[in-house]
Amino acid sequence: MIQAQDLYYEINHHHNQLRILHGLNLSITSGEQVAIIGSSGSGKSTLLSLLAGLDVPTRGNVLVNGQLFSSLNEDGRAAVRAKYMGFVFQSFQLLPALTALENVMLPLQLNGTANARALSMAALNKVGLRERTSHYPKQLSGGEQQRVAIARAFATAPAILFADEPTGNLDHATGQMIIDLLFGLNKEAGTTLVLVTHDVELANRCERKLQLSQGVLTEVGQA
Ligand SMILES: Nc1ncnc2c1ncn2[C@@H]1O[C@H](COP(=O)(O)OP(=O)(O)OP(=O)(O)O)[C@@H](O)[C@H]1O
Ligand SMILES: [Mg+2]
Repeated sequence: MIQAQDLYYEINHHHNQLRILHGLNLSITSGEQVAIIGSSGSGKSTLLSLLAGLDVPTRGNVLVNGQLFSSLNEDGRAAVRAKYMGFVFQSFQLLPALTALENVMLPLQLNGTANARALSMAALNKVGLRERTSHYPKQLSGGEQQRVAIARAFATAPAILFADEPTGNLDHATGQMIIDLLFGLNKEAGTTLVLVTHDVELANRCERKLQLSQGVLTEVGQA
């Protein structure tokens, strides 16, 4: 489904070269559930943004379905992303001028899906936000914004769902609901899950756990 080959990501910051990813390799097959763990600043969000083509590596390749992805231009990557990927960011990234419903509808409309409104209502209902569809992001709590972002990500039924700390801003019960939803998608639709998380319970539910440290990934045995 998705592969990273000898991935490097370096940033020049105030004349210091920061090596974030350093020859990282990864292969995720279709339908897998993968947790990526690692300390703060280890490069987890950076890795997800490279896998989703939101940024490009300094060196190395990302392949999607065996095709070179990271070397496509921005429009090319956006097209592949729209077709296959859903993304839940650490910082929600909801559009402030759109209501919760409109935020969820947007990627469906961009994909030309016919019943965007009904699908979006159903997605918001699933994350427990039936009563908040006409709220703007600033009228929603942090956890509610996160749930809108999650509804937006899975409404398009992506083949692969990337989520950065999906339970980070949620209380235990709501977090549990989101986890069940994510694993339900994996089971019913075969959605590949790639989850960055500090949540031990969530990480332990995944088939694979990968630890990011010193710019590379290592498989971690199940606890
Ligand atoms: N544009 C940038 N300029 C300078 N440094 C950056 C930039 N983007 C990321 N970094 C640095 O890269 C490192 C990795 O950042 P990243 O956000 O990927 O970490 P993370 O593992 O997701 O951490 P957290 O668990 O806190 O979210 C950090 O030390 C960060 O300061
Ligand atoms: Mg992060």
